[in-house]
Amino acid sequence: MSNVIDGKAVSAAVLEECRAEVGQLKADGITPGLAVVLVGEDPASKIYVGSKVRTCGDLGLHSRKIELSAETTQDELLRVVEELNADPAIHGILVQSPPPPHIDEEAIVRAIDPRKDVDGFHPENVAKLVLEDQSAFVPCTPAGCMRLLEEAGVETKGANAVVIGRSMIVGKPMALLLMAKGSDATVTVAHSRSRDLPAICRGADIVIAAVGRPEMVTADWVRDGAVVIDVGINRVDDASKKRGYRLTGDVAYDEVAPKCSAITPVPGGVGPMTIAMLMKNTLKAARQLG
Ligand code: GUN
Repeated sequence: MSNVIDGKAVSAAVLEECRAEVGQLKADGITPGLAVVLVGEDPASKIYVGSKVRTCGDLGLHSRKIELSAETTQDELLRVVEELNADPAIHGILVQSPPPPHIDEEAIVRAIDPRKDVDGFHPENVAKLVLEDQSAFVPCTPAGCMRLLEEAGVETKGANAVVIGRSMIVGKPMALLLMAKGSDATVTVAHSRSRDLPAICRGADIVIAAVGRPEMVTADWVRDGAVVIDVGINRVDDASKKRGYRLTGDVAYDEVAPKCSAITPVPGGVGPMTIAMLMKNTLKAARQLG
């Protein structure tokens, strides 16, 4: 049996669940709607936003793509958010990150109605996650990682889990999800400056790598039979590729994979799950808002 966790297959299954839920919502008179706001011209962000909107179309959700120039002011962006907050056809609002440097991202996140905060970045949703309130919107990437662990049949109860990375988008919510009732893992949150990181990782049954450093986690960091979830998507120069770079995770996959009972590849692991969980969150928002 392969130890590779197929994120494309799991995300396809989640999207099929979403398709069924869209049908039920529509039967109840609710057409779920997602607004995606992009400020500026970042090419990677454009691709992400495009695939989010396309996935909405595939599933029958209403979507609105709002593309604003890189010169958009903080006040103009706040007004767009306020209009979306007040729009009954929109249940989920996502402002693509990172915005241009003159935008105060924290203030924008706080301006989003927490009931429409499908990224789960608003302080109210962060607090709900800490409180294990089931109405919380859980950030999409860690939610996707949890679903991958579940689908791979990984036992989290009593397991030692090490999360490398402490971001608000992945590391911190990931740690909360793993330690929550029902998951019951014993969680260590490490980061790039943790002392003796390799030794910390060697104690782990489950390693979540979300540190943003290409191939940092090497075979000597991982115990035999561990489960490794690689959240990293790093561009590294590669002259042999037509586009001049290749994508690699935070894990040195080729040397780590043979030691693992389960591992996610990059690409094709965590990446496809993020959009699928965004769709789930949008449907949850539509159901909760009615
Ligand atoms: N940029 C990269 N990932 C994300 C995400 O999950 N949400 C938002 N808003 N921006 C992102």
